[in-house]
Parts: sequence; C-alpha cells; structure tokens
Amino acid sequence: MTKMTAIRSIVLILVFAWRSQAVFNRPYEIELQNNEYTDVLVAIHEDVPEDHRIVDRLKEILTEASGDLYVATNNRAFLKEVKILIPRTWAKKPEYNPAGTETFERANVRVDLPNPLYEDNPYVQQKGGCGEEGDYMHLTPKYAVDKEYGETYWGPNGKTFLHEWGHLRWGLYDEYGFDDGASGESYPHFYRASVGGVEPTRCSAKVAGHNKHMVTGADCQLIPATGVYEPECRFYPDFSGNRATGSYMFMHFLDDVTGFCHSDPAGDPLSFHNREAPNKQNVMCQRQSAWDVMNKHQDFANGANPPREVDSTEPNFVLLQESDSTSIVLVLDVSGSMSGQPIDRLHQVATRFIRSTVSFGTSVGVVTFSSSASIEHPVVSVTSQAVRNELIAALPTRATGGTCIGCGLRKGIEALEAVGQPGGGVILLLTDGKETDAPFIRDVIPELQSKEVIVATIAFSADADALLQSLALQTGGLSFFSDIDDSATLDDAFTTTFETTAGGKGVKLVSEDKTIGGRESYVNDVFIDNSVGENTTFSVSWLDGSRPRVKVETPLGHVITEGSPMYDVTSDTITIEIPGIASPGKWAYNITNNGPSGQDITTIVTSNPISDNEPIKVTAQVSAVSVQYSSSQPTALKIFASVRKGYLPVIGAVVKVLVEKPPNGLVEEITLLDNGAGADLSKNDGIYSRYFFNFSADGRYGVSARVDNSQGKAEYIVINRGRRNGAPPLNPDTDGGNVQREPLEQFQRMTTGGVFEVQGVPSGGVNNDMLPPSRVDDLAVVEVSYADATVTLSWTALGDDFDQGGPAHYVEIRYGRHFYQLADDFHGSASVNHSQVLQGSLTSPPEPGFVQTIVILVPDRGDNVTYVFAVRMCDEADNCGHPSNIVTANLEYIPEPVYGNYTMLLVIVGSVLGVVILAAILALIFCKCRRSKPAKSAQQPSVYDNSGYNPNV
Ligand SMILES: *[C@@H]1O[C@H](CO)[C@@H](O)[C@H](O)[C@H]1NC(C)=O
Ligand SMILES: *[C@@H]1O[C@H](CO)[C@@H](O)[C@H](O)[C@H]1NC(C)=O
Ligand SMILES: *[C@@H]1O[C@H](CO)[C@@H](O)[C@H](O)[C@H]1NC(C)=O
Ligand SMILES: *[C@@H]1O[C@H](CO)[C@@H](O)[C@H](O)[C@H]1NC(C)=O
Ligand SMILES: *[C@@H]1O[C@H](CO)[C@@H](O)[C@H](O)[C@H]1NC(C)=O
Repeated sequence: MTKMTAIRSIVLILVFAWRSQAVFNRPYEIELQNNEYTDVLVAIHEDVPEDHRIVDRLKEILTEASGDLYVATNNRAFLKEVKILIPRTWAKKPEYNPAGTETFERANVRVDLPNPLYEDNPYVQQKGGCGEEGDYMHLTPKYAVDKEYGETYWGPNGKTFLHEWGHLRWGLYDEYGFDDGASGESYPHFYRASVGGVEPTRCSAKVAGHNKHMVTGADCQLIPATGVYEPECRFYPDFSGNRATGSYMFMHFLDDVTGFCHSDPAGDPLSFHNREAPNKQNVMCQRQSAWDVMNKHQDFANGANPPREVDSTEPNFVLLQESDSTSIVLVLDVSGSMSGQPIDRLHQVATRFIRSTVSFGTSVGVVTFSSSASIEHPVVSVTSQAVRNELIAALPTRATGGTCIGCGLRKGIEALEAVGQPGGGVILLLTDGKETDAPFIRDVIPELQSKEVIVATIAFSADADALLQSLALQTGGLSFFSDIDDSATLDDAFTTTFETTAGGKGVKLVSEDKTIGGRESYVNDVFIDNSVGENTTFSVSWLDGSRPRVKVETPLGHVITEGSPMYDVTSDTITIEIPGIASPGKWAYNITNNGPSGQDITTIVTSNPISDNEPIKVTAQVSAVSVQYSSSQPTALKIFASVRKGYLPVIGAVVKVLVEKPPNGLVEEITLLDNGAGADLSKNDGIYSRYFFNFSADGRYGVSARVDNSQGKAEYIVINRGRRNGAPPLNPDTDGGNVQREPLEQFQRMTTGGVFEVQGVPSGGVNNDMLPPSRVDDLAVVEVSYADATVTLSWTALGDDFDQGGPAHYVEIRYGRHFYQLADDFHGSASVNHSQVLQGSLTSPPEPGFVQTIVILVPDRGDNVTYVFAVRMCDEADNCGHPSNIVTANLEYIPEPVYGNYTMLLVIVGSVLGVVILAAILALIFCKCRRSKPAKSAQQPSVYDNSGYNPNV
C-alpha cells in the first residue's frame, strides 16, 4: 500500500512550454501585462481578395470581444493592442506600416479561405493538452464581413471570439457533447447523473432548456443498451429567461452567459462547474473547471493581473502590410573548426539552396564570420540564373580563425539595412562551435529584437553554442541541429527555413545520406504523387572520390543517365532536372560508386506542387526546445507531425520520426500516431503525435520526419459534396453520407522537426521502468445489459511507458455508485476483480493503440442503480497512469422505445422533403452554414443549431 501511495505521488511533469513550438511556425507571442493583452496578431491570407470591410469588421469584432473578455475575466484582462497584417497582394496604403517579424504563418488569428471541414465556422486548431495554447484561430472572410450571417449561426461576434479565445489562449475545451463525423471523435450529449436521471452534457448545470428528438421534435426516449437517450436527441436551451451565467465554453451565445465555469463553492452558483458532464473539458482537464485551468495559466497564476478598473477596453489597432519579398542573409561560420569536410558540406548545401530552393524574387545575401565578419555578397534580388551564380561564387570554401557569432549577426543586420528596412528580414545563422570573441550572441539580441530581424539557427555539430536555440526563440525563428557529417539534415534545415519565412512552395520527397562501398551501387525508389511533379529535381552530391554515375528510371521505363540533356554535372554534384511535370508513380534511382573505396553520397529529391492542386504537406514540431530532466519526476516531451492537404487531414499515413541522440548520434525511430490516445489529442485530425522520453545523455537532439503511404492505407477526409444540396441521413450519427474519404496513392515526404536540448539526464540514460503508461482519456461504455447485469467498457490501450513500449502489464478498473467518491478517491473505490470479468482480461492488455474491451458483471441492478467506472493502466513495476475519465452506466430496466405511427410518418416526410429542421441538423452536426433564411417553422434560433456543435469550435 505504501508503494501505491508513492506511485500516486509521482507527478508527471510533461514539458509543454507553450512558447516553444520548435518547428514550423512559432506563434506570435501575445503578452498580458497590467491586464492588457498586446501583440495579438491577426493576419489575412494572401489568397483572400482585397476587401476593406474585412479590416473594418475585424476591428468591430475584436472591440466587442475585448469588452466581453474584460467582463468574463472579472476585470482582469482585455485586448489593448491588436496588429492586423494585410497581405502583400492587397494594394499599398500610406496607413499600413511595414511588417517586421509578423507573418501569416505565425498569426494567432487567421482570416483565410474556409477549411472545407468546417466551412465558415470559427474554430481553433488545438493539438496540445489541457492548458496548452492552441496554434491559431481561423475565421473566414465571409464570417468576418457578414455580421448578420455570423450572428445568426453562431451568436454575437464578440462572444464567439471569446469562446475561441478560451481554446487559443488558455487551452480550454468544449463543454458540450459533439459527434465529429469527419474524425470520429465523439463526446456524449447526455449522461446519467449520480443524483439519478438523465442530464444533458452542459456547464453550468443551471442552463435551462428541454430535450427533444431533433428530427421529429418528439420527447427523447431512453435506449436500453446505453441507458441514455437516442443519438438524435439534443438539449435545446431556453433563449429567454435562462439565468445561467456560465459558460463561454458551452453556449456562449445565451444572453446571460458572461463568464466561464469555476469551482469556487462561494462563487456564483449559476456558473458553477459541472464535473460530471462527460465533455472534452472534463475528459482532457481531469474534471477541472475552465477557471481552474485559467488560474494555472501565466495570465492569472498566483494572482497575476488582479482586477482593475479601466476607462476603456477598446483596443488600438495597428495595420501592417507584408513586404513584397523576403530578404535572407546566410551568416556562415568559417572559423578554423569548419575547415575540411564541414566547409565542403556547407558549400554544397548552400549551393543547392541558392540554385534550386530560393525562388525568383527572393533577396539573398552572404556573410561569413570567424574572429570578425564580412559581407561576401550584398543582399540582391534573385532575378536570373546569373545572380544565382554570383551568389554561389561568394560562398566560402576555406575556414580559419576564431568564432565571433555576434560579429556575424551584426554584419547580417548591416547587409539587410543596406537594402532598406531590416524588419522582417531573415538571418540564417550556421555555426559549428562556441563563441570565442566579443560581441557575443547575448550582446546582439536586443538589437535584433528592436530591428525585428528573425534569426533561424543551425547548430552544425553537437558542440555548437548552447545559446542558438534561445537566440532563435527570442527572435521568432526556428532552430535546427545537423551533425557535422550529415548533409541531408543540413539541407532540410535550409529548406525549412525558406519555407517558413519566404513561403517556399517546394516539397521535399527524399533527403538521405548513404555510404556506398567501392564499385558498388545503391538503388532506391521515390514515389511522385499527382499533387506534385513540376520541376522535379534529383540532386546527388559527393564530397571526395570520383564522380559517381546516376541512373534515373521513370515510371514509363525511360532511363535518364549521363549524356542526357537533363543530366548536369559540376565538381561535386549531379543534378537531373525533369522539365515540366514528372509523371506520377515510382521513379527508381541507381547510384554507382565508380571508385575503389567507400564514398559518402547525399541524395535530395524535390518537386513542386502542380498549380490548383494542394500538395500533401508535412511539418514536424517538438513541444519544447529545452527540457530539464528530473529523475524524481518522469519527464517527456511530445513530437508532432502535421500531414495535410491544404486544411484537410491526411489519415492512415505512416509517420516516422528519427531522433538523433547524444552523445554519439545514435538514431532512434518512433512511429507517430493519430489515434487520439496518449500524446495525441484528437484522432484523425492529420496531426500525428507521440511522447519522447528515451533521453540518452545531456545535449542536443535533432528531429526529422518521414511520411509515406507504404501501407497503402492513407486517405484524406473531404466533406461529401453531394451532401450540400441533398437530404441528410435520418440518423445524423451514421455519418456515412456526410464524410467522404479519398484514398491516396503512394506518396512520400521528408522534413525536419528541429532541435531540442536536454539537461539533467542521469548517466547511462533514462530508466524506462520509472515511467507509467499514459492516462486513458477515451474510456467509454459500449453497452449496458440489464438482463445480464453487465457493462461493456472500452478504451485505447496504452504502452508500458506512456504511449509506447510493449503492452502495459495490467489494468485496474475501479467503480462505485457515486461519481464524486470515485472522482475524489479512486484508490478507495472498489476494484473490479477477475471473477467479475466475463469477457476480456485485466492482465493482458493489447499492444498500445489497440482498443481494449471488457465485459464486467456488476453486483446490482434495478431502479436508480447507476455505476461509475474509471480505469488506469500499470506496468510491471507497478507504475500506473493517472485514472481515466469517468463513465457512468445505468442498470435499471428500460423497455425498448416505442415510436408511434405519427412519429414514423414525420421521420419519413422529413427525409423526403428535407424540411428546414433537417437543414438545421446538417448545420448542427457539420456546420453547413448556409445563407438561406431559416423558415418560420424552425422555432429555434439557428444560433443553437450551429454554435458549438463542432469539433474545436
Ligand atoms: C429513484 O429516484 C427517483 C428520483 O431520482 C426517486 O423519486 C425514486 O424514489 C427512486 N427510486 C428508488 C427505488 O430509490
Ligand atoms: C519550373 O521551371 C520553369 C523553367 O525554369 C519555370 O519557368 C517555372 O516557373 C518553374 N516552376 C516552378 C513551380 O518552380
Ligand atoms: C545499377 O547500375 C549499375 C551500373 O550501371 C548496374 O551494374 C546495376 O545492375 C544497376 N542496378 C540495378 C538494380 O539496376
Ligand atoms: C532507448 O535508448 C537506448 C539508447 O539510448 C536504446 O538502446 C534503446 O533501444 C532505446 N529504447 C527504445 C524503446 O527505443
Ligand atoms: C469480486 O467482486 C465481487 C463484487 O464486489 C464480490 O462479490 C466477489 O466476492 C469478489 N471476488 C473475489 C474473488 O474477490
């Protein structure tokens, strides 16, 4: 028992520094000081046609939201300064200031063409856990401009914005039940309350309303197998006379809702948190109220930003416009330690970057530094091949001297200033060592910040300066790590920097380093899918030895080799450029080392999207750039990869991450999953996640991702176009007709996930036996049988260590009759023993990621008999995860529901005519938000039908 207590006291410290999205975009940092939010960045996408009403309406929406925010936080926060970033595609105006480090990719709020899954429904992309900030809020131009439309469907603009702000800023989740047809994610609309009876999933429990069948309008009926109402049953709030004041995460559009749910017994009972509701907020945040979570956020933690009276909550708006082109200065280390192979590698990769990655119109300059720095080539706009050649000629080939990183950075600023405003310019800093000469990095950071220069950093060796990650973090750039003998990763760092700062559209299909033995050949394939193919380039580089021979075979069997006009040779690189559009399918390449001894060869294959076709894009991220490991508290971070075609999730792809670990560069491979279990927050959203905790030593860890469809299971989710005009299915939960999945052919992508740094790792690395399985957060009651007195539970099994390793050792299921007893004292509640398990097993959980199902015999049944259950998984060493979400099962006798003829008739008429209420369901479930006015017969304001009933809304 003492052991159990000890285990219980292990707190999982997961390193989710919200400020440290290491790769892809680093969100713009919102500040809250003295109750005032500043640096809120709203950006309009360049594909949105110029329309000044968008800007005017954004001002109105945010002004309204600011007032609502001030009230909802009890006078603790409001929006003080909002930046609106106008795209470069809109006409220039004198009132627009030039943008600095503000970019669309980093915006907190995006105004962009609709995500086909949600159309005009505002939503937040949230991939982190409870209390972790979301990536961005997405509003559509139509939502922004058309106030009446937006308010008819989702309620007052300001309140809707604040609901989304709850997701974005404080990492809150929805407090309503929903079924997301696209992802399959589902939270029940009703539950059995511990006080008896069926309750709608809501917060607070004081929100008044009634339940009815959303198709027929009839009273809801209980279903014996679940003990709750039919799936088509919904809670309809009373729009007048509803006194509940909470919550914004439930039905923000109700007039009296002005706050978030809280757990203070002395506070307003009308917004008191409902711990029992089986909504995503309770599941993900372990039954904490919205305010419990907000009070842990730095905005309000330890009493920060106490209430203050202010004269006005109206924000100041600053209008910025993106510059027409991005300037990138390569600031390259040529100190003594770079001499030999490192400088050769750098030369090769930088050459390829200037030659193939940089697009026309981008401005590029070259700076080198050792003990001092010099501009090797001023910043020029890449307008022709001749300019590229000039830049390539300026790349360094020799290295000697000390390391003055600050000198390099200052010269970089100087190079940017020579061609205009440095703001928004990018320095790509590469170094392999530690700084030896002043000025140092820390001396130059304030200057970089005040001039708004973004610095992306590449640590080109494990020994490179430790400040590199923090330099990037503080200037809004990304940081990378490439081993000194690794060209592929170095190349990934260059291309990712270009993609994230200059919006490069190229897609990397292959980047690999191989050692090919003397007189041997290396043969591999690359699949070109039909979303890419334009100007496909194979680039094969070597460092020494004789020139290899390359053969590329097209899917049609043509062989391209020496002598072909597409085959271009320089002193260290062979480039094969396929003009026009490469045919989709399998391209084979064969590289032969002509020399007698082994040779290091780097192969890079890139392609470009075919116009009008969104390519499948992969980006990878780690949840923190620096981790302080603690032996007493298991420490982990999360690795994410987003695989999407535009905004549409690609599911079923094989996503592998390679983590290069200190001290000797050993590579560990991890498969990321999009199954909604363990590290993965939401299933089938195209964001694949996994924990990483197998730290081997202190130092830098480099992350790269490879994605393909080698199992042939990948597909992307689209909304069935036919559904737009056709009648919806009777049962909205059978989403067959609503969501369509398009299978994908073979494709492959590679990218880098950046770098993170770990300190405090015990010598010999982490002992995995310390780590418990992750918490189960998808426990569900599959079925209840009164006749057999059984309850069937299921959940996704987790690994021995968090969400991986072998299967967990055993499952502990605890249950009781009272929700609060189980919630507050899991260990004191009865546990399910072997003799109660009729099907399944407590001691042989399946492999992580597989669904585990158990049929349990319960001791009692009859009127008012409701059981509550929670589970946790444990490993051999009795390390157990936190108890799961709690589910309830009702064991009273429920007769089969009876449907009268009239009801059936209604159902049939409804399905044939597609009456308005059916349109409402459509909207309710999939937020088809149409302009057409609801007919008079729809009594419910349509706000109800949309708002909130959408994932991540
Ligand atoms: C069941 O609960 C209801 C109210 O929740 C109560 O009226 C009724 O007496 C209870 N029945 C039994 C058998 O306890
Ligand atoms: C492909 O190459 C041609 C010829 O160099 C060029 O005109 C075109 O812009 C390129 N397309 C892309 C997407 O880079
Ligand atoms: C690769 O090319 C070499 C040299 O041309 C050849 O000998 C070898 O058979 C080729 N391998 C394959 C699998 O085609
Ligand atoms: C953890 O890392 C060590 C080396 O650091 C390696 O030997 C071991 O296989 C790794 N464990 C897993 C599960 O990958
Ligand atoms: C298992 O639990 C049930 C219900 O609590 C109890 O009746 C039974 O005696 C237990 N069996 C064992 C072997 O402990």
